[in-house]
Amino acid sequence: MKMVAASLLSADFGRLKEDLEMLNESENDWVHIDVMDGKFVPNISFGQPVIKHIKKYSKQPLDIHLMIEDPDRYFEDFKSCGANIISVHYEACRHLHRSLSAIKSLGIKAAVALNPHTPVESIKDVLYMCDMVLLMSVNPGFGGQTFIEHTYNKIRTLKRMIDERKLPTLIEIDGGVNLQNSSQLYDSGANVLVAGNAIFSSSTPQKTIKQLKM
Ligand code: DX5
Ligand code: ZN
Repeated sequence: MKMVAASLLSADFGRLKEDLEMLNESENDWVHIDVMDGKFVPNISFGQPVIKHIKKYSKQPLDIHLMIEDPDRYFEDFKSCGANIISVHYEACRHLHRSLSAIKSLGIKAAVALNPHTPVESIKDVLYMCDMVLLMSVNPGFGGQTFIEHTYNKIRTLKRMIDERKLPTLIEIDGGVNLQNSSQLYDSGANVLVAGNAIFSSSTPQKTIKQLKM
């Protein structure tokens, strides 16, 4: 399965509705939404009021990536914004098992995001609870950064861990994804590629989305 999740961080915030309509009419699978608190990451993006409007115009599942500390405070809020899948950072959750349980109890798919420095083995004891694992392939906080090559090793190790346990867990890659690395990422075991800059800086974004899945 090859899926693309367009990251709205690189969209034109002045014409989000038009960008969402463009995605609705493309082969894009999920809308990736980066929520940042200026604490866990050195940047602030947007929050629930904006996401409610995104939900109104998007026909695609909302993939919410929480780059915030103590995310458990907001799970219900994000549910009411229309979240379909929520990723919390391993590095931001003191009680990860509890956080994943809380997301799942709301009927939302649960995912763990790992920063580039965090080994995939760190989550082996909660892997069975994860609908998805998001591997950061850049340091989180900004769009348009350069892909970290070591990510390929992490994908292969994680894929082995998932297969050994016969789990349906998806692997999502976030950061620096482009037309040059997409097929190698899928070949290594990735299922969902997040792409911000690659899609929104393209003069033919719908074609780029199609090509990212080739
Ligand atoms: C970075 C975010 C990403 C970002 C990816 O912290 O999590 O989702 O938007 O952007 P690109 O694809 O431009 O690297
Ligand atoms: Zn993201």
